[in-house]
Amino acid sequence: MINCTTVAGLRGACDAARLDQRSVGFVPTMGYFHAGHRSLMRMARTANELVVVSIFVNPLQFGPTEDLSAYPRDLARDIEMVESEGVDVLFVPTVDEMYPEPTQTTVHVAGLTEGLCGAARPTHFDGVTTVVAKLLSMVGPCRGYFGKKDFQQLAVVRRMSAGLNLPVEIVGCPIVRESDGLAMSSRNSYLSEFERSAATVLSKALFWASETVVRGERDPQRVIASVRQVSILEPTVELEYVEVRSVGDLSTLDALDGDVVVAVAARVGGARLIDNCTLSIRGDDVRVDLGVLVHPSIERIPTCNE
Ligand code: PAF
Repeated sequence: MINCTTVAGLRGACDAARLDQRSVGFVPTMGYFHAGHRSLMRMARTANELVVVSIFVNPLQFGPTEDLSAYPRDLARDIEMVESEGVDVLFVPTVDEMYPEPTQTTVHVAGLTEGLCGAARPTHFDGVTTVVAKLLSMVGPCRGYFGKKDFQQLAVVRRMSAGLNLPVEIVGCPIVRESDGLAMSSRNSYLSEFERSAATVLSKALFWASETVVRGERDPQRVIASVRQVSILEPTVELEYVEVRSVGDLSTLDALDGDVVVAVAARVGGARLIDNCTLSIRGDDVRVDLGVLVHPSIERIPTCNE
């Protein structure tokens, strides 16, 4: 594995692969890997000759009161994981390498970044699009792999790539869940054992809401109410939003039809968690996508009490 810390090193490795007719798959991350990250690497591995992973905790996407300094990091463990996933290039830049000068150039996607997570995190998506645009420009033509758990991020990155004609194919990858349904997230490590168990109410509520749609419910407000009804069973879980949106443009809906996402954000102890399920609705036919359960052989991320 090539371990590089400079933009020139990353570019050189990617250019050399393409010169050799080898396709490049790129997985941008903030590290502290769990099975969700590993599934992105595996998707990239199956479709590309060169797999590149970046680890960079991007200060630009954290608000002033958010968890930048507390964000979990364990580079030694991450390196072991990328090696075991057969990754070819690992890029771990410093903040100075990524932002050598005070940031004056940013990338903004209008519309899609407003509301949902953008309401509570008003500067977050500009930070994401700026760093992702920079990383994609360093890697060059590639397939880029992003998790569907961050469904708004995925929609925003797709829109940015199309809007800027970036030479990249964006691939959305399934949510990976722990065996009790909790969506994998590096931020799960902030949860105590009690909070972690309470947080499983989010996936239960999404499952229950999707069941109501399978049984014929098409009113978004009733689907939202069913998520709230289940979540209320766990007072430790403070819902920030429950929304039903169209998958492609995140528009609100009067009635459920087509590809729809039911999304939640909640505060649980010191963690802000998000989760969602997507529904593909064609008349009476409803396909539910809640993601996949982690394979028991893959290590679970420890909570703060372990
Ligand atoms: O999803 C993430 O981990 C981050 O938002 C990303 C895409 C790596 C950009 O920093």
